[in-house]
Amino acid sequence: MEILRNADLKPYNTFGIAARAEALGRFHDLGQLRGLLGAPELSGLSRLILGGGSNVLFTRNWDGLVLLNEVPGLDVLREDDEHVWLRSGAGVVWHDLVLHAVANGWGGLENLSLIPGRVGAAPMQNIGAYGVELKDTFDSLEALKVDDGTMVTFRKEQCHFGYRESFFKREGKDRFVILNVTFKLSKRPALNTSYGNIGQELAKRGITAPTLRDVSDAVIAIRSSKLPDPKVIGNAGSFFKNPVVPLAVADAIRTEYPDVAAYPAGEGYVKLAAGWLIEKAGWKGFREDGFGVHKDQALVLVNHGGATGRNIFDLSTRILVSIHERFGVELEREVNII
Ligand code: FAD
Ligand code: EPU
Repeated sequence: MEILRNADLKPYNTFGIAARAEALGRFHDLGQLRGLLGAPELSGLSRLILGGGSNVLFTRNWDGLVLLNEVPGLDVLREDDEHVWLRSGAGVVWHDLVLHAVANGWGGLENLSLIPGRVGAAPMQNIGAYGVELKDTFDSLEALKVDDGTMVTFRKEQCHFGYRESFFKREGKDRFVILNVTFKLSKRPALNTSYGNIGQELAKRGITAPTLRDVSDAVIAIRSSKLPDPKVIGNAGSFFKNPVVPLAVADAIRTEYPDVAAYPAGEGYVKLAAGWLIEKAGWKGFREDGFGVHKDQALVLVNHGGATGRNIFDLSTRILVSIHERFGVELEREVNII
């Protein structure tokens, strides 16, 4: 079991923020994880689990132990005429899981193509894109309970999934290490091509009877054209959630801005596009020293190089204040602030 001391975390967060961890260890299975949690030389250190580091912002060094989850494995647990139950190790790269499902003709994950990160983090915020969320195919997960070292199985209803929300982001925060996730995928998939411009992208390609692969390819093309690649420019995707507000708030905005981007979100509520609000408030493309707001997607804060996590956090606070003053809407950060 190799433990790095005073480890550089820059390669392990997609914002590319320079931060250090007092100690860093990797685990590939439950035994190695238990070994790290029980190691006398590491006892007393606070712990942080990391997958791909694509949804964290380090605003300080981590005075504790970083545990890098690299648990592998893709196994079919069972199947019937309609479905297959696929279990993925938490360290599997999310997009590799999607490609595996698509290649086998198992439907349900294709709209979630190209989301960065590892499978174990996906339940944390119930990842979502293009009209689909993790919860739609989630069956169960197994996690280690950190305080007593027992394994616990969580079924869907115990995970309290919501929009970019789960039990693990709230009451369960820092208490469980997710080791594997099981998905219930469809052998006769009903494709979901109605969201955003998937339909347009398919039409552009002359595809009238799309396959899972076609939908996945269309989503990959749309995402690649809209979102900055963290390998080129540091970011963690959407920095804020899209706010859900009472209809009256949206109506008040609409009287001044008839083009406000808003979607139904249950009786009496509307989800506003935070990217639209931030753009309208004049932040799109804002740049100061090494950090700013992406020029094509105002919901994405970026590290142009050399920014600190504090720089980006402080910018996010300025944006929060500005949106509140301008529209009376409270934004909430989506990224996990460390
Ligand atoms: P990390 O950043 O490593 O961890 C995130 C959180 O989960 C941390 O709090 C961490 O402690 C915890 N955690 C990680 N692994 C475990 C585990 N095994 N057990 C317990 N806790 C754990 N998200 C979307 O929902 N939809 C999108 O469309 C989307 N697009 C993105 C586009 C870009 C360009 C980027 C950079 C990010 C995007 N994201 C999106 C956000 C991000 O990809 C997801 O949140 C992803 O699930 C994070 O995975 P990760 O392994 O990188 O997690
Ligand atoms: N918009 C603007 N200006 C901008 C950005 C967006 O006006 O700078 C408008 C768009 O024109 C559109 C609306 O806002 O009318 C929505 O934009 P988009 O389709 O790009 O999606 P989003 O709401 O900005 C959400 C998710 C993404 C996910 C996409 C696709 C959240 C917080 N973000 O973005 O998830 O990939 O939809 O489904 O819900 C992430 O969580 O990190 C993430 C990237």
